Amino acid sequence: MKKKILKILGQEFKNPISCLTAYSASISKLLDGNVDMILIGDSLGSTLYGMKNSRNVTIQMMKMHGLAVTKNIKKSITVIDMPYKTYDNTNQALRNAKNLLKYTKAKILKLEVNKNNLSIVKYLSDKNLNVIAHIGVTPQSYVDFKKIRAVGKSEREVKNLISLANDVERAGAKAILLECVFADIAKKITSSVSIPTIGIGSSKYCDGQVLVFDDIINIDNSHKSPKFVKKYMNFEYLAKKAIKKFDKDIKSRKFPSKKYSYN
Ligand code: KIV
Repeated sequence: MKKKILKILGQEFKNPISCLTAYSASISKLLDGNVDMILIGDSLGSTLYGMKNSRNVTIQMMKMHGLAVTKNIKKSITVIDMPYKTYDNTNQALRNAKNLLKYTKAKILKLEVNKNNLSIVKYLSDKNLNVIAHIGVTPQSYVDFKKIRAVGKSEREVKNLISLANDVERAGAKAILLECVFADIAKKITSSVSIPTIGIGSSKYCDGQVLVFDDIINIDNSHKSPKFVKKYMNFEYLAKKAIKKFDKDIKSRKFPSKKYSYN
């Protein structure tokens, strides 16, 4: 089989594409140049603000976090989510998309797509805006994230998803984000489109992978992570250890010593 050429915004990738989320300046500095793409995701609603879903994330929030990120990015490609109910019709989508891109200077918009809003992808792409289509599990459709299940069990679901992937490519999407799609379906989709597929919980068959940064460092162990999250470090454990030490130092008057004072 002919090898697929992985290209996004003219940049060619020889290896699978890596992507992590960032919502702040400090994390952006850590990620820039160390992953291929950085996503200012509306997952910031639940991850940063403790919301129970992403529906209350606003354009204003995306603008503020978006700018904090993009100001600190020189190398990686920046992608920003359009939040819930900000792309319900073509005029609204274009106004919000331009606003978000002008303010943040992010390179690509990500929209959650189904067969009913495909025309928005086409409309924005025809206006020369770069769009990534997020399909499979689309979190903005869920009030309760606990109800999220992988997509691609029934034959109908599979057929619809494969045809949606092909439709978003025809509509002008620059890449497809596949969330929680069964491995064999992700494989079929990846080989049936010429644009890259970036997976989250969608197997090794995608052309790239994305995860939420806070998940991979395990900053919050208070909830059960989805099966697809690999924890690369235990930040929660290390941070708690440091916090306890700080508290002990204060109580024992060890901190601040002369070294940390203006004498
Ligand atoms: O908002 C987000 O961070 C996302 C990822 C989960 C892919 O869309």
